[in-house]
Amino acid sequence: MSERGTRGIHVGGAKKRFGAVVALDGVDLTIAPGERVALVGTNGSGKTTLLRALAGLVRIDGKVTIDGVDVAIEPEKALAHVAYVPQIAPPLEASVGDVVRVFVGLRGRTFDDVAATAKQFGLELSALKKTRMRDLSGGMKQKLLAAMALAAKAKILLCDEPTANLDVGARAAFVEAVRQMPKETTLVLCSHRVDEVSVLVGRIVELRDGKVVRDDVRELREPRAFEGDELHEPPPRAARTATPLQLLDPEVA
Ligand SMILES: Nc1ncnc2c1ncn2[C@@H]1O[C@H](COP(=O)(O)OP(=O)(O)O)[C@@H](O)[C@H]1O
Ligand SMILES: [Mg+2]
Repeated sequence: MSERGTRGIHVGGAKKRFGAVVALDGVDLTIAPGERVALVGTNGSGKTTLLRALAGLVRIDGKVTIDGVDVAIEPEKALAHVAYVPQIAPPLEASVGDVVRVFVGLRGRTFDDVAATAKQFGLELSALKKTRMRDLSGGMKQKLLAAMALAAKAKILLCDEPTANLDVGARAAFVEAVRQMPKETTLVLCSHRVDEVSVLVGRIVELRDGKVVRDDVRELREPRAFEGDELHEPPPRAARTATPLQLLDPEVA
């Protein structure tokens, strides 16, 4: 397979059905290295399912490849340089210190790397080492997840509604941290707050009923209105593949 044609993220004919619900209905999408893309759409339009499919966290019909490697066939290789911020943090019993230690061990980073990023969001990790992850507030969990993902310095960052629970200061810090990422970092984020993330993305892909209904390359900062999207939490399910990203996927917890 030629390197050139396969670099980046390729989604081909992605279909996903949960019982009677069609979550993805034939999605084709190519995201080039360094592209910054927002997935938008109303509640239940399939954003989270698509992002989880990119992260190899949900089995789909069709195909997702990252730099030519199929995430379903060789997940560890395909996802080695992918970081993921789930929409809802898993209610882990483990302490913050343990979660961070496992994560940085998998990612070749240090506790201090994560602590420094968390501090930008107003979260003092050293004071929370012994706190159970599940006992953090929603916003604190989101800050921690974002700090871990950013500290991973992965080539591809996947974020599901990353700013939904953040206070104003942390939102601004998140935007700043993402803007500081190296230019070649690929960003795919789900959001209903397009106004807020518009400074971060150069492309907006809108889903409706599991289909891509709009794919706009755009100027950064151009304001656009999209319908709101409430938080949606899918029911827990069993793990199917084994990658570091599963540590943070709510369906695995
Ligand atoms: N694990 C799951 N089990 C059952 N249904 C699910 C699951 N995940 C998503 N769905 C359903 O698939 C559809 C798309 O959900 P989702 O991808 O979470 O949408 P969005 O993130 O755009 O709100 C919804 O109807 C949702 O109820
Ligand atoms: Mg969602």
